[in-house]
Amino acid sequence: MTYPRWTLRTEHTSYTVRLSPDGPWAELDAWGPLGVEDGPSALDWSHRTHFITPADAAPAEYLPYGLRPFTGSELVVSTPGGERGMWWEFDGAEEAQGALRLAFTDEVTGLRTVLCYATVPGTDVILRWAEFTATAELRLERLDSAAVTVPVRGAARLTCLAGQWSQEFQHTRLDLARGTFSIGSLQGVAGHAYAPWLVVQDGEAAYGVALEWAGNWHITAEAEPGGAVRVRAGRVPHEGAVRIAPGETLKAPRLACAFSADGLDGLSRVWHRYERRLAGDRLHRPRKVLYNSWEATGFDVDAAGQLELAKAAADLGAELFVVDDGWFTGRGDDTGGLGDWYPDPQAFPQGFDRFVADVRGLGLDFGLWVEPEAVSPGSRLHAEHPEWVYRVDGRPARLVRNQLLLDLGRSDVQDFVIATLDRLLGTYAIGYLKWDMNRPPTERGRPGAGPADRVDLDAEHVAGYLRVLDHLRAAHPDVTVEGCAGGGGRVEHATLARTDVVWPSDNTAPLDRLRIQYGFLHAHAPHVMSSWVTDAPGVFDPRPRSLAFRFVNAMCGVLGIGADLRAWTPEQRSEAARWIARYKEVRDVVHHGEARLLGTPDDPTCGVQFDAGDRTVVAALSTGRLDGAPLLPGRPDRLRLRGLDPAARYRDTATGASYSGAHLRHHGLPFAWSAGHDADLVVLRRL
Ligand code: DGJ
Repeated sequence: MTYPRWTLRTEHTSYTVRLSPDGPWAELDAWGPLGVEDGPSALDWSHRTHFITPADAAPAEYLPYGLRPFTGSELVVSTPGGERGMWWEFDGAEEAQGALRLAFTDEVTGLRTVLCYATVPGTDVILRWAEFTATAELRLERLDSAAVTVPVRGAARLTCLAGQWSQEFQHTRLDLARGTFSIGSLQGVAGHAYAPWLVVQDGEAAYGVALEWAGNWHITAEAEPGGAVRVRAGRVPHEGAVRIAPGETLKAPRLACAFSADGLDGLSRVWHRYERRLAGDRLHRPRKVLYNSWEATGFDVDAAGQLELAKAAADLGAELFVVDDGWFTGRGDDTGGLGDWYPDPQAFPQGFDRFVADVRGLGLDFGLWVEPEAVSPGSRLHAEHPEWVYRVDGRPARLVRNQLLLDLGRSDVQDFVIATLDRLLGTYAIGYLKWDMNRPPTERGRPGAGPADRVDLDAEHVAGYLRVLDHLRAAHPDVTVEGCAGGGGRVEHATLARTDVVWPSDNTAPLDRLRIQYGFLHAHAPHVMSSWVTDAPGVFDPRPRSLAFRFVNAMCGVLGIGADLRAWTPEQRSEAARWIARYKEVRDVVHHGEARLLGTPDDPTCGVQFDAGDRTVVAALSTGRLDGAPLLPGRPDRLRLRGLDPAARYRDTATGASYSGAHLRHHGLPFAWSAGHDADLVVLRRL
C-alpha cells in the first residue's frame, strides 16, 4: 500500500512529507537538496523500536500528547474538566502551488489542527505553522508551531546564538549525542540569552530553524533513539494555558525552516536572502550613515551640545543625526520621564522644532529615540493611568531599570502609543525612530481581568507591538525604524519584517563587537545590522584597536558613529571622513550582495566578503597582537576568499594589484598587518 506524499520545492531544496504507515500522523520523508526524496527515506526506522509506541519513534511533523505519550509532543490539550490528551484522525490535505495544509481532527475534544506549509519564493525557506479550530472551550497547555526531524550520523552538531546583555549573539556550538537541549525566553521578547534560531548539522548539511515570534518562546532539540534529532519550536504560554473558545481559530507563529548543503556559511546566505525578502520594497531605501549621541552625552542632552555633535558629524559625511534617550521632560537620568513624551523645554529653550530645523540645516536627516512601552513610576502618565501597567492584584510591582511596563495588549494603551508617535512624527520633521525596550514584564497580570490564564497576555502584547509597528509603516512610510531592546533583546523575524535596522548590542567595543557581529551575521543580513564606531577605550572592552578597525568592523553592516566627536583630533576627523566616503561607495554591495564570513574572530585574521556584480568587497580585520612582532608562519596575514571564478582576474581598485581567482581562493588576499595597521577594506573588480 502506498501512502500519500507531498513534496515542497524551493530554489535548491525539497521537503517531502508523507502520511505515516503506522498511524494518523504526517512524518518527514526527506529534507535536503532538490531530489533528495528520490530513494528510501533515511528516517524510516519506526518499526524497529521496542517498548515505545510507533508514534514515539516516528519522525512526526507534529503530534499531540496522548497519541505520542513518551517522547515529547507539540500540542498538549486539556478540557475545562481537566482531561488531558488527544487522539486525532487524518482529515484531509489541501495542496496548492508551494503550499500544503494537512488537517487532523479529534472527535472527542472537537479540535481540528491544520499543519501548514508554505515555500517562500526566491529563497530556500519553508514556513511551517499550526492552526487550531475549536468546537468547545479547550486549554492549550503547549501549542508549538512545528517539529522537524533531522537524520544525523553520530552526535548532532548544534549551533545557537547565546549570550547576555552586552554579549549577545555569541556563536555557540555543542554536540548532542543524547538528551535534550533547550533554549528560549520567558521575558516577553526574544531576549539577550538566546536568539530564536538553531542549526542542526550532519557533516556539512545544515538544517536551520528561526521562530517568528516577539514574545515568550522555546526551541528544543532532542536526540532520538534511532539516530535523529527532533527539533520542536513555538511560543510558550508562560502565564498559563492559552484558551481557545468554540468557533475560534488560533494560529501558532511561523517557524522558518532553511536548509543548505554548504554548512553554516551557506545557511547564513539563505537567511540573508530571506531577510532581504522580509524587508520588501524598503530594502532598496539606502541606509543612511547615522550619528547617535548616546555614548557621547548619555542623559546630558541639550540643544547646544547636540548641535555641536551634529555639526561635527555632518563635517565627517554623516547623513542622519539621532538624539537618543534624555530629550524629554523629567529624564535627567533613568529614574524618571518615561511616558511623558514631550521635549524638555529647558534642554531646548528655543523650541524642539527649531532644534530639529538646525540639525536639518546641517544637511542631516533627524532621528529620535523612544521607549513607547515604558513608564516611569513618577511620570504624569503613570499618575493618570496606573491601570495601564502590568500588575498582579495584591502584589507589589517591581521596578527594572527604575521603570514599569505598559500592558500593550490593551487597545487603549496601543491607541495612546500610536497617538504619541503620530504626534511626535506629525509635529517635528523626524525621519528616523529608534524603538527601544529596556524592561521585561515581571508581575504579568492585568488587574481586574481575572486569573492570568484567562487572558493571553503574551500574545496580546505581541499583537499590540506589531499593530503599532504596522501603523508606523502605513502612516509614516518615509520614517526609518530601528528596533532595539537594551541592545539585541528583540531580534526575530516578526520585528525584522517591520523595522529597517536593529541594534544588535550595546557593546560597541571593537573586539567584542567583532564577535557579536560574527554570530549575528550567521542568522541575520548585513542590511539590518546597525553598527557604530565609538571611542577606544569605550564603555566595554578596553583592548585597543585602531580607528580603521572600528570603521571596517562597522562597515560590515549599516555604518553609524557613536563616539564623542568633540574630543576627536583633526587627523581622526579626516581619517573618519575618508572611511565614510569609502563606505558610501560600497554600501550597495554590503547591503545587497552575497556575504561570506571568512574565518572566525579566533583566527589572527578574519573578515567578511561581499559580492555583487563585478565587485567584491573584503572587510579584513586583524585580531592578533599589535606590538609589531613578526607574525608566526602559517599565513595568518592572508584571507582566503570564496566563491570567486578561479579562471578570472580580480584587480584591487586602490592599489592596482591583480590576482587570479584561483590565487585568492587558494592562498588568499595578502595583508601586511603592523602595529598601526590592523584592518583594511579591499575592493576588487573582476576584469
Ligand atoms: C538601551 C539601548 O540599547 C541604548 O542604545 C540606548 O538607547 C539606551 N537604552 C538608552 O537608555
